[in-house]
Amino acid sequence: MFIPEEIIEDVRSRSDIVEILSEYIILKKAGRNYKSLCPFHNEKTPSFMVSSEKQIFHCFGCGAGGNVFNFLMKMEGLTFFEAVKKLATRAGVKLPSPARNREFSREYKEKESLLKLNEYVADYYHRYLLELKNTGQTRTYLKKREISLDIIKKFKIGYAVKGNNLLRSTQQKGYSLELLKKGGLVSFYAESQRSRDYFQERLIFPIYSHQGQVIAFGGRVLSEDKKPKYLNSPETLLYNKSRNLYGLNIAAGAIRSRGQVIILEGYIDVLTSHQYGIENAVATLGTSLTQEHVHLLKRYTEEVLITYDADSPGISATLRGLDLLLDSGLRVKVVTLPSGKDPDDFLRENGKEAFIEILRKSLPLVEYRLNLAMANADIQTTEGKVYVAKEVLPSIARIRNAIEQREEIRKLSQSLHLDEESLLIELDKIKSRDSKPSGLDKVILKDTSGIEKAQRELVQLMLIDHDTIGQVKDELKPGDFNFLGLGVIVEEIFKLSSYTGDDFAVKIIDSLQNEHLSQVISQLILEDRKYIEKEKTVEGLIRTMKQYNLRQKYEKLEEEVKNMLDRNQQPSVKTLQEYKDLIQALKGSRRN
Ligand code: UTP
Ligand code: MN
Repeated sequence: MFIPEEIIEDVRSRSDIVEILSEYIILKKAGRNYKSLCPFHNEKTPSFMVSSEKQIFHCFGCGAGGNVFNFLMKMEGLTFFEAVKKLATRAGVKLPSPARNREFSREYKEKESLLKLNEYVADYYHRYLLELKNTGQTRTYLKKREISLDIIKKFKIGYAVKGNNLLRSTQQKGYSLELLKKGGLVSFYAESQRSRDYFQERLIFPIYSHQGQVIAFGGRVLSEDKKPKYLNSPETLLYNKSRNLYGLNIAAGAIRSRGQVIILEGYIDVLTSHQYGIENAVATLGTSLTQEHVHLLKRYTEEVLITYDADSPGISATLRGLDLLLDSGLRVKVVTLPSGKDPDDFLRENGKEAFIEILRKSLPLVEYRLNLAMANADIQTTEGKVYVAKEVLPSIARIRNAIEQREEIRKLSQSLHLDEESLLIELDKIKSRDSKPSGLDKVILKDTSGIEKAQRELVQLMLIDHDTIGQVKDELKPGDFNFLGLGVIVEEIFKLSSYTGDDFAVKIIDSLQNEHLSQVISQLILEDRKYIEKEKTVEGLIRTMKQYNLRQKYEKLEEEVKNMLDRNQQPSVKTLQEYKDLIQALKGSRRN
């Protein structure tokens, strides 16, 4: 669904943030702003602020923040477009027909047709399975796997027979061969110019989007000697396996109410969990967990449980991949299953209570990695200590909550019999290494020392005082802002700088479309700092940043030169000149 920018603005301007939020929470006037208990985390004293003037909210407790759309997205688990649609209806704004934009309209139509086709196909395979009654190898197989009829219906499991039955049936219904190909439902053979059903002699698991639309299929063989065990739809206009999770449409309610999601590895694991009453379980679709999955999950919960077979090869690398979950502020716990068992095996052999017991014993990711690393090292030796620290510190560096982070350092220091100081130094090294490439997701707003503080304040000034933008734009580039994704915000500020409306900040939030950045912006605005002598302050901050940049360049070059001399190489005249120039520039910048 495509909605032009003017319409989004129209909807936003007709949806007063105070009015809309009042439908969900009790807002009390506090000075120029409003205050409330935060609906997104538990608290006793209100740290949730709303500015009617800026049309922005921010919680200084949990960091949630943004404009009215962000609020609705988070509160109701909607996508941006769903939030716009909802408020448009409320405000009586008519959304344009998709035909407004030809390109979008073509893709939109194609998606709609594919969705219709997929729905038909899921029904077709499902009906076939149900009509099989109690005969045949398919039913025997399901019985052997102890998959109940309830679950078959809930997940709309189906069966695809041998031959080209789907092709015939869909074409009779008027679906074109072209569409079937685009949906990955037939394979086309160029030599013979023939098409065949893609899924044959397989159990079919429809894959749903989180909103409950059939977007793809997975098909499992019945006899173990056939390969591949699972055949999955190719990626299509509708389906991207890094953005979807199997079972999420069904698990969503339970995930919200339990405040936790369990991530499993396979289709059958999800079925079995649900059958045993563990309904907050989903599975990745043959990939590891991605950043996109994390964004999707964040709409539903803060806690993620991941199941792993502790003895599987590559576990340590897999866990390293999970660090991205820590970045997003999710609590991540690892569940260890006995060797060689997946959740399906385990549940069937040991039952629900035993599984819940195992879930209860899950360990926070950092602790889990610590245990694993300790088991693989001799920590009596220095090498052993270094190994363990190297394995665990990167995870600790990504914990967003400073207190939790400090606590993990304390534990690590105890386990390794090392002093906390040296671990903290190593931690800082990792942190500064991580934050150099302007990482979008590395939003840690707590450390406001020196240069980071300067960058933050400059962005803050640009957001609350439009005149500042020109002054900064003349002197600095977005790339000069290298903390907390600030560079991306600055880029957008510069891009929209000709716009001077009151809703400048909310507009920036909408065009960035990024939860973390929205939070940074809402915090900067609602901190409500007063700057006296703005122009002078801005000048000073710009100078600080320039000097810092020079310093960085200088240090880099110095290191380069040193390395060359160590290797008995002579730096070029050009390099040396540059080096001297930098020293001069540094001296100069300090004087004025
Ligand atoms: P598993 O091999 O663990 O299968 O693959 P499973 O889900 O436990 O199924 P059963 O119990 O053997 O019947 C885990 C997941 O990896 C993907 C599927 O998503 C599967 O659910 N996979 C596996 C494939 O996509 N293709 C394959 O050939 C195998
Ligand atoms: Mn299995």
